[in-house]
Amino acid sequence: MSDTMQTRAQACEEAENIGSNPSANASIGDIIAARYHRRDILKGALGVAAIAATVSPLALAATQTARAAGTGFSFKEVAAGVDERHHVAEGYNADILLRWGDPVLPGAPAFNPAQQSAAAQKAQFGYNNDYLGYLPLPGAANPSQHGLLVVNHEYTNEELMFAGIGEQDSKAAAFGKMTKELVDIEKAAHGGAVIEVKREGGQWRVVADSKYARRIDADTVMEMTGPAAGSDRLKTKADPGGRRVLGMLNNCAGGLTPWGTWLSCEENFNGYFWGKLGDADPQAAAFKRYGVPGNWYAWGKFEDRFDIAKEPNEANRFGWVVEIDPFDPASTPKKRTAMGRFKHEGAAGILNKDGRYVVYQGDDERFDYVYKFVTAGKVDPANRAANRDLLDAGTLYVAKYNADGSGEWLPLTFGQGPLTAANGFKDQADVLIEVRRASDLLGATKMDRPEDVEVNPTTQKVYVILTNNTARKADQVDAANPRADNKFGHIIEMLLAGGDHAETKFTWEILVKCGDPAVADVGATFSSATTKDGWFGSPDNCAIDAAGRLWIATDGNSGKATGRTDGLWALETEGEARATSKLFFRCPAGAELCGPEFTPDLETLFVAIQHPGDDGPQWPAFGRASTFDDPSTRWPDFQPGMPPRPSIVVVTRNGGGKIAT
Ligand code: FEO
Ligand code: CA
Ligand code: CA
Repeated sequence: MSDTMQTRAQACEEAENIGSNPSANASIGDIIAARYHRRDILKGALGVAAIAATVSPLALAATQTARAAGTGFSFKEVAAGVDERHHVAEGYNADILLRWGDPVLPGAPAFNPAQQSAAAQKAQFGYNNDYLGYLPLPGAANPSQHGLLVVNHEYTNEELMFAGIGEQDSKAAAFGKMTKELVDIEKAAHGGAVIEVKREGGQWRVVADSKYARRIDADTVMEMTGPAAGSDRLKTKADPGGRRVLGMLNNCAGGLTPWGTWLSCEENFNGYFWGKLGDADPQAAAFKRYGVPGNWYAWGKFEDRFDIAKEPNEANRFGWVVEIDPFDPASTPKKRTAMGRFKHEGAAGILNKDGRYVVYQGDDERFDYVYKFVTAGKVDPANRAANRDLLDAGTLYVAKYNADGSGEWLPLTFGQGPLTAANGFKDQADVLIEVRRASDLLGATKMDRPEDVEVNPTTQKVYVILTNNTARKADQVDAANPRADNKFGHIIEMLLAGGDHAETKFTWEILVKCGDPAVADVGATFSSATTKDGWFGSPDNCAIDAAGRLWIATDGNSGKATGRTDGLWALETEGEARATSKLFFRCPAGAELCGPEFTPDLETLFVAIQHPGDDGPQWPAFGRASTFDDPSTRWPDFQPGMPPRPSIVVVTRNGGGKIAT
């Protein structure tokens, strides 16, 4: 519980900012950062040949391929700023597709925020839409115009969802107004949704009564699979076998597999638990490393499993990657323990050239780590069923970034190096449940809050989005995290040896350090072609479109922080335009932009607008707590009495055509 009034988004940020990594992994100083200041080179009078001689090999390596794939973004930039509405580049439509409370399952009632119930919410679109994935429907006449949208519902904001209660997680409020009825609505608003969507006559719509429609919530039956399934540490009174769990929590970003499943990632699961574990409890240190209990929700008041004094192992059953088959609404979601337990941001993967599947993952907490998982088996493109349990066996690795621009992936395998009984690991299940501590022991590089990690399949370059870390001190900077008090984050680009994602050696460099380039102290490195509207802070999610171009979604900009809302920026990665950024879409006040997802034909962009109307004090023109009764915006409906509603927005070009070309 927080001492001061704060929004849930701030609580999320602070939880990610626990900085609970106690390991003493060495800091190595900002030795080579200067090597990456391309902006200074570009601003000078150096010719192309001089640039070629100075620019990092990584930047040059992929230039030819990327040029062939067509870089460059063609659109008129949006002006940065803050107001109640969303804004998209001129010449584009940005239409509301689906809002919190809209019917998903057949028979779902129309949304009535004054009379919401858990039963209604279980059949309606959930709250705080985060990750979005688009899967073409097999047999669709046009795969880019008929498919399934899979959506995460990350968390709930009681002060914006319910009338008359305000924030409930402060010490003063102490969840006093959280009734069982409200908690049940919150639980029903979590999880995810599968939505059939179709474009007809140029317009996208949700297909009503689709046979694929599904809501997943905090009580959906799921299966634990992989090496940790059945571990004593996953056993509870309700599940003595340690293999059956109810629900997924705080599902942030995710990924889609080549065999057509959805990976949905549990992030700040610690916030759902309360109660106290004795200091002598053998799991006390492990719980502390993950910030359990977080005390953000009153669920423990009504359900023993969320009280760690009563059911400690329940907390070990969250913090996983969940694989869901969106084509079978009766399928049981599976928590794939082989991929490790931490505050997963996303799980974007690549079909490696040897046929194995490789998933990149960030652990979003100050000073935590970047991971990849390499399957033991190969993907069978001709037999979907053969890939069903591919994610249960493989090797999990954590990244170490060296000061000279090289790096290595360190295997998190029981029995290797320090991952033995001498350090309290009795099997691979222990390594996976406490993967953060295992990574500490391996000497992995402590990062500035790793969010999305995604591969550009055109160039094989891997983008690591580091959102910010204001807790990093001057004596803690290193080459991969070169700024103390890193308020605005940065983006790292990696290339694995030979473009082979199963390789353990890689090279890396910083693509951009974020923030306002006009403020010298910030040390931002956007190209000089970036306008006052084009720079951003706190990068979070990303998308790589069908043309091999990088788009960055942000979480953390605001009137006070950067004079702009969050949004979607187009970021050049190749050639002389490298590190030039342009604002394409701007969120309404208080909202974060999540899940940017393009259709394969590049004609449609789906974005998830999360927590609109959050954090009123951060918008000076509003300047007070934003609540259901007095919200900073009533986006997207702008109707009296209707609160702001997290929504999916669909962006297309007026008159049709590919986006930003
Ligand atoms: Fe839910 Fe790390 O953002
Ligand atoms: Ca995120
Ligand atoms: Ca974030």
